[in-house]
Amino acid sequence: MGSRVMALLLLLCVSSAWPAQAADEAGENGAKTTLTSGKRYINLGQKWGSRSPLMHTKANLTELTSIKSSFELRTLDPEGVVFYGDTQGGADWFVLGLRGGVPEMQIGKGNTLISVAGGPKLNDGTWHQVELRSEGIYVILQVDGIDVLVVGLHSKCDNCNLEGQIRLSLGGILVKELELLNPLQTEMDGCVREGNWLNLSTPWETDEELQPCFTEIQKGSYFPGTGLVLFNSSDFTTQQTEESELEVKIEGHSSAWKGTVLSLKTPQGDSILNMTAQEQTKELTVIFGTQTSTLKLGPQSLALNLSQNEIKVEFGPQQLVMLDEVTQSWPTMWNEGLILAFGGVPDESDPIYLKGCLSLIQINGQDVDLDRALYKHNTISSHGCPA
Ligand SMILES: *[C@@H]1O[C@H](CO)[C@@H](O)[C@H](O)[C@H]1NC(C)=O
Ligand SMILES: *[C@@H]1O[C@H](CO)[C@@H](O)[C@H](O)[C@H]1NC(C)=O
Ligand SMILES: *[C@@H]1O[C@H](CO)[C@@H](O)[C@H](O)[C@H]1NC(C)=O
Ligand SMILES: *[C@@H]1O[C@H](CO)[C@@H](O)[C@H](O)[C@H]1NC(C)=O
Ligand SMILES: *[C@@H]1O[C@H](CO)[C@@H](O)[C@H](O)[C@H]1NC(C)=O
Repeated sequence: MGSRVMALLLLLCVSSAWPAQAADEAGENGAKTTLTSGKRYINLGQKWGSRSPLMHTKANLTELTSIKSSFELRTLDPEGVVFYGDTQGGADWFVLGLRGGVPEMQIGKGNTLISVAGGPKLNDGTWHQVELRSEGIYVILQVDGIDVLVVGLHSKCDNCNLEGQIRLSLGGILVKELELLNPLQTEMDGCVREGNWLNLSTPWETDEELQPCFTEIQKGSYFPGTGLVLFNSSDFTTQQTEESELEVKIEGHSSAWKGTVLSLKTPQGDSILNMTAQEQTKELTVIFGTQTSTLKLGPQSLALNLSQNEIKVEFGPQQLVMLDEVTQSWPTMWNEGLILAFGGVPDESDPIYLKGCLSLIQINGQDVDLDRALYKHNTISSHGCPA
């Protein structure tokens, strides 16, 4: 077997590394680098808005004793990068991610890019055993003991050397400019444990303070009370007809909510509306202009409806109708771009960030993926709440 092929196989088996370049960046930020074990519980969902990985390691290719990596993965997130590996300083690379919950491998080798996907959906919130290994010219992905993807890749050996380093990374990729064949939303709200990465004993480096994984998870977005998520409402454009209503629907165990659930501002930053859950009184305070109303928190879903000239808030049998002199219809303003925040009021001097689980957030019947926000605080878990 040519050494390049061998290098690729090694690469494929590797789980995660960090490029010199990324390390430099971290240095510039002045972030503190700590060393950690690749076997521990690793919460991948704590680096939003950056393709850089959560942690990385590297090894000399000559030191590798195994071409197999294995770990357990638990997630409710349909899309994201789990791990990355490369050799030749990023010239040859490998990415394992999920798309639509299904495992996907992408490989870049010389001028060749490969993307393969298949196997069961893994985003069901339970632990799955994942193994990647190299056998001859094949790279094999095994899930829960069954081989689900087999990729054969043979390249003529024109630059045979098994020297240099292999880099591995978790929860992101090391080469910023790297173009995947099939672009992936990098952020992965998931947890990895029991990792064995090419049987390496080298510690992993991270610039983050690693957050723990929830013991058990359930569907939803978890706000720990430390930040918010921002969207441009125009990301959810709506059909415009006379009677069309735009609906933002939120579900959850609302009597346990504490803090601002939702707020809406104009692009200029003027407050339109905010809703804040009061834990003590089990009430939801809705502030719209000079109007303040309260609704009783309960098990029902909360809906905010925008139509031509009114905004309605519905909470089970309770309903609030708010009218204002507006020059344009609310749906028009929405389509042009309002600042929609979940979990707080942006640019507020004394914010009351939400603590609680929103088990469902939908706009016009479509699930809202917090990973695709304009901004998301790193402590917010997009796809899982503690159960
Ligand atoms: C890897 O190789 C380089 C250069 O050959 C050497 O300096 C370094 O110590 C090696 N690393 C380890 C962990 O052995
Ligand atoms: C993994 O590494 C350990 C020591 O670090 C070694 O004893 C063992 O043989 C290695 N396993 C493989 C499959 O290389
Ligand atoms: C809000 O809009 C949705 C979708 O158009 C509709 O099904 C629902 O009945 C509306 N709710 C209220 C309170 O008007
Ligand atoms: C909600 O909006 C009102 C009116 O703009 C503002 O005074 C208040 O501070 C906001 N509430 C929170 C919790 O930020
Ligand atoms: C929101 O979207 C609108 C329309 O696409 C755009 O003009 C505006 O600049 C966006 N605002 C922000 C803050 O990104």
